Amino acid sequence: MANPELIETFQQAGQSQVFAFYDQLSAESQAQLLAQAAEIDLAEIARLKRDLIDSSEGAAVDLTDLQPAPYESLPDHGGDADRWQEARELGEAALRAGRVALFTVAGGQGTRLGYDGPKGTFPITPVRQATLFQVFAEKVQAAGNRYGATIPWLIMTSHQNHDATVSFFAEHDFFGLTVDQVRFFRQGRMPAVDPDGKIMLASKDAIAMSPDGHGGSLRALDRSGSLDQLEREGVDIISYIQVDNPLVRCIDPAFIGWHLLAGSEMSSKMVPKAYAGEKVGHFCRQRGRAVVVEYSDLPASIQEEVDSATGQLRYLAGSIAIHVLDREFVRRVARGGEGLELPFHLARKKIPTVDAHGEAVKPTEPNGIKFEMFVFDALPFAENPIVIETLRENDFSPVKNASGVDSADSCRADLLRQYARWANAHGAGLSVDDSGLPEVTFEVSPLFGYDEVSFAESWATRSAPITTGKVLS
Ligand code: UD1
Repeated sequence: MANPELIETFQQAGQSQVFAFYDQLSAESQAQLLAQAAEIDLAEIARLKRDLIDSSEGAAVDLTDLQPAPYESLPDHGGDADRWQEARELGEAALRAGRVALFTVAGGQGTRLGYDGPKGTFPITPVRQATLFQVFAEKVQAAGNRYGATIPWLIMTSHQNHDATVSFFAEHDFFGLTVDQVRFFRQGRMPAVDPDGKIMLASKDAIAMSPDGHGGSLRALDRSGSLDQLEREGVDIISYIQVDNPLVRCIDPAFIGWHLLAGSEMSSKMVPKAYAGEKVGHFCRQRGRAVVVEYSDLPASIQEEVDSATGQLRYLAGSIAIHVLDREFVRRVARGGEGLELPFHLARKKIPTVDAHGEAVKPTEPNGIKFEMFVFDALPFAENPIVIETLRENDFSPVKNASGVDSADSCRADLLRQYARWANAHGAGLSVDDSGLPEVTFEVSPLFGYDEVSFAESWATRSAPITTGKVLS
């Protein structure tokens, strides 16, 4: 039998069920199962069972000494306009010096959207039906042109969607970017376990493995050699975005500048929560460190607290998962040790598996547990973390659900509102409804304008009027 030591290690760890059907498998399937098993850190699984599954305290989030996090308000909301200008200029200088890379986490499974394929290949713009990936690619290209620098774009995939993602870019000639500029790497995986901590099989010859969460991106950036490559290129600022949010200013000079001004290792954007129960993470401070507390972990009574001085929610700063990371900070957290490890979070899920006879089981209720790391759990380790305010309409409209809130429809409408705002600020005179939605369905390619400033420049040279179906490009 090949590799008996590995099988024996699993037996000794009480995980022999992983190899229950091993003798029935072809040599190829045996090799596949062994390769998967070799990815698993059995000591880590035992620790997670003890600390998260068996211990009721382990799962509870520590809310002692929690305070709302301070943040830099926008100039229109009382912030210091001169400092914002200084930040913008500093960010622009960093961009011109080629110090900035874009990083997109795209390893999620997109289950809620019900879309078959990597989420980045989802068509989103209102006229061209450009995909999420194309929108980001055009923003990278436009910003690179503006600052005279090549902006590397790192994309984290998962084992499930890696090949499909890479082929998609190849089929579309990397949307005008160079092959060297766009770099793909896979994130790590974790096995699902049953309520007794036993590693589950997806089939007789495969372990039920799933992506290790967007927090796995820090390890993956390091392991893939991406950090070393960035270092060789003189890039030390990593602009982090999620694949589901095409509205994001993914290359934002003011945000980069605030990060530099503060000497921050990890910076974040916030939007004021729309209402107390909004399902976002909350930026907080705890014993001198920055933390994000997910909505599910913060009791409603705390979420509803009102600041008597401002009349606003006390825990106002909502996380929209947009960060700037210092390259060496990522390396430090990725390498771990000395209490630097990101914690795992546990999620009870329906995991397709096999029964004792190897027959497929499709559960209708959660039957297993997945483990994920979250990138914002790196915040407490960061020196001088800074949070800045942004406007939702400029930075955040994620595509998460098949319909309703945070769906493709709501996101397309937000894109249209943004195009109309930019155009009307320059006298386009488009009719819009009370929500700012224009009557005409048109589109602004990021190559024409990826923010107000670049839009204003291109607008000056435009010719025909805006009508339905028009693409400004
Ligand atoms: C997340 C945040 C939430 C924030 C919201 C903003 C968490 C737990 N919550 O919610 O605080 O307000 O975004 O949109 O993160 N991904 C990977 N690999 C993984 C898992 C996810 O790359 O293993 C990527 C996805 O491709 C996606 C992003 O991470 O780009 C977000 O993942 P998702 O699971 O959709 O986060 P949310 O629960 O919506």
